[in-house]
Amino acid sequence: MNNSISSHIKDASDLLGTQNGSQKIWAIGGGKGGVGKSLVTSNLAICLSLLGMKVVVIDMDLGGANLHTCLGVPIPEKTLSDYFQKSNTKLADLLTTTPLKNLKLISGAQDEMGIANLRQVHRSKLLKQLRELDADYILLDLGAGTTNNTLDFFLSADQGILVTLPEPTSIENTYRFIKSVFHRKLAHLEDFLEVSPLIDKVLNSKLNENSSPAEIIEKAMQIDPVMGEKLKREVQTFSPKLVINQVRTQADIDIGFSMKIISKKYFGLNLDYVGFLEYDATVWQSVKKKRPLLLEFPSSTLVKNFESIIHRILNLSK
Ligand SMILES: Nc1ncnc2c1ncn2[C@@H]1O[C@H](COP(=O)(O)OP(=O)(O)OP(=O)(O)O)[C@@H](O)[C@H]1O
Ligand SMILES: [Mg+2]
Repeated sequence: MNNSISSHIKDASDLLGTQNGSQKIWAIGGGKGGVGKSLVTSNLAICLSLLGMKVVVIDMDLGGANLHTCLGVPIPEKTLSDYFQKSNTKLADLLTTTPLKNLKLISGAQDEMGIANLRQVHRSKLLKQLRELDADYILLDLGAGTTNNTLDFFLSADQGILVTLPEPTSIENTYRFIKSVFHRKLAHLEDFLEVSPLIDKVLNSKLNENSSPAEIIEKAMQIDPVMGEKLKREVQTFSPKLVINQVRTQADIDIGFSMKIISKKYFGLNLDYVGFLEYDATVWQSVKKKRPLLLEFPSSTLVKNFESIIHRILNLSK
């Protein structure tokens, strides 16, 4: 498996490994619970580490942390709970080993302290220390939901990856997540681009919080073409990746292409469909065995799926 992944994406990995010594943060999210975020996070992390990258994977699903199981390790002694409760704890103190030498885990809190309760001061400190970790790639498993904290971690990452199932409820949740992210991004842009007055005007006009992102941008262009254009450009640079999980038919696979078209039309947003994962019994078999999927079942059809996704993401993040 190692060889196969390496041979496919060697060129990309040569280019991408430690550009300027700075890490890349990938955040894996999506509105709904149980869609495969932890499966995607853990196995993308394994792919990257098999390519020789130094990877840290962090379970941000505070309160419902289970990423350790996907990686085949017992609940680590130190978790993010220690980080939030003891002010002198460093993020680097929480690194736990995994079956792969290059891959370290920081486990999420097991207690009730949800990410929703994370205060701004903790969030900023966490983001700062993330960038100080000794790693080429840092992958965040964001957990379900659209709290401001989850949205901010998604937006702070260099790469946001959305996971969805090919079924209406999950797809709707993904659109809701995208829309929430967009509104959150607008809130940040207000300060950054000094477009507050414009956004106030836009939001106070006939539009309301149910307006689509495309409508908001269009209104902004009408009110102030120069600032509106700036806003549009900023939004267009935001291009989350999409993975469809548990596909069973070609129609399921094609949902990703439809979602890309709809996102462009409705949100004015370039959703990047990076691939799909087939529904496969090896997933629950590996969960039951508490072993990482890609290591336990190296000839699983999902290995090819993951190879293709990682290839696509690395190529595009050049
Ligand atoms: N491709 C797949 N084929 C078969 N089963 C799958 C697949 N993907 C996920 N599953 C099943 O769905 C379960 C949920 O996956 P996972 O824990 O990765 O979702 P999640 O989005 O992280 O959930 P949560 O929101 O609770 O954190 C897995 O335990 C597995 O049994
Ligand atoms: Mg999970």
